[in-house]
Amino acid sequence: MYKRGGLRVEFRTPNESICFLSMAKETLQQLKINHQDHHLSVIISSSGIISIWAFSRTPMEFQVEYATEADGPGLAKVNIDSFRNQRILPSVFPEASRQSLGEYKAMYSMKHLANPEMHVLKMTDPSTGEIIGYSRWFIPKSLGGETIPQMSEKAQEIARDPVVFAPRPMNEALYGAFRQLLETSRKRFVKDEDMVLDLLAILPEYQGRGLASKFLQWGCSRADQFGVRLYLEATGAGYPVYFKYGWRLLEEVNLDLSQYGAEGIETFTIMMREPQAK
Ligand SMILES: CC(C)(COP(=O)(O)OP(=O)(O)OC[C@H]1O[C@@H](n2cnc3c(N)ncnc32)[C@H](O)[C@@H]1OP(=O)(O)O)[C@@H](O)C(=O)NCCC(=O)NCCS
Repeated sequence: MYKRGGLRVEFRTPNESICFLSMAKETLQQLKINHQDHHLSVIISSSGIISIWAFSRTPMEFQVEYATEADGPGLAKVNIDSFRNQRILPSVFPEASRQSLGEYKAMYSMKHLANPEMHVLKMTDPSTGEIIGYSRWFIPKSLGGETIPQMSEKAQEIARDPVVFAPRPMNEALYGAFRQLLETSRKRFVKDEDMVLDLLAILPEYQGRGLASKFLQWGCSRADQFGVRLYLEATGAGYPVYFKYGWRLLEEVNLDLSQYGAEGIETFTIMMREPQAK
């Protein structure tokens, strides 16, 4: 309502607190006010129409959810964008476009989704619907809680052998060496009852906001509940984060890309986390 040449607005927030705003006539054009957990924007048009917008000041909750077949392209984007500083993918597919890599990665994600022991998780920005984080946790059958994937026949067929859809040319020797390196460490250290953090990635523009922590809490709380160890292979970016959550160094392994016609050395830090008592 207008009052003595000014405006008084009563605003009730979702948590039921009432906010009274009084404005002098001179400020009646556009006014932005921070009130408790809300940000109010009051706009007065030249014809005197008042519109009031309220925004939550804290971002909506980012939830960890199970991924589905339809999430393939979103998971692929997170995977490619967040690991963009790593040399392996562009070295294995030296001529592939961003689009063809995305299509292939989306197909490859069907293999993980179809594995009942692989828990494929996503995080979506509720304001855009975009997938911004992605994580995969191997939880052995013996611990129960297998995922039951709902997948189309086409996706199940792709899942059986996605590598046939890989862009060409493909540096198969490098691809094989990379897989062999990680499999050798897994065979050495992982016992039947251990869980494995197979992948964790957050889009670069969303990093440093505690989103990886939400995935880590999801997996660590389950490992602690089951009383099992959690194995992983860390990149340089992941190491300090995992250390903070209780993982400790087992060994470092290197892949010398120059032996396979590419350039550089990639290092992975093999880490294990013992279960922690609550
Ligand atoms: C590694 C990665 C997943 C971290 O994601 P993120 O969302 O930026 O991480 P968070 O903001 O949730 O930080 C996780 C925790 O580690 C801490 N942390 C982050 N960087 C740290 C550092 N350099 N030193 C110490 N602690 C650090 C944070 O404080 C946070 O702790 P908190 O939960 O107590 O607040 C992200 O950088 C990424 O996707 N990198 C590229 C892909 C990659 O390398 N993935 C790891 C594969 S092994």
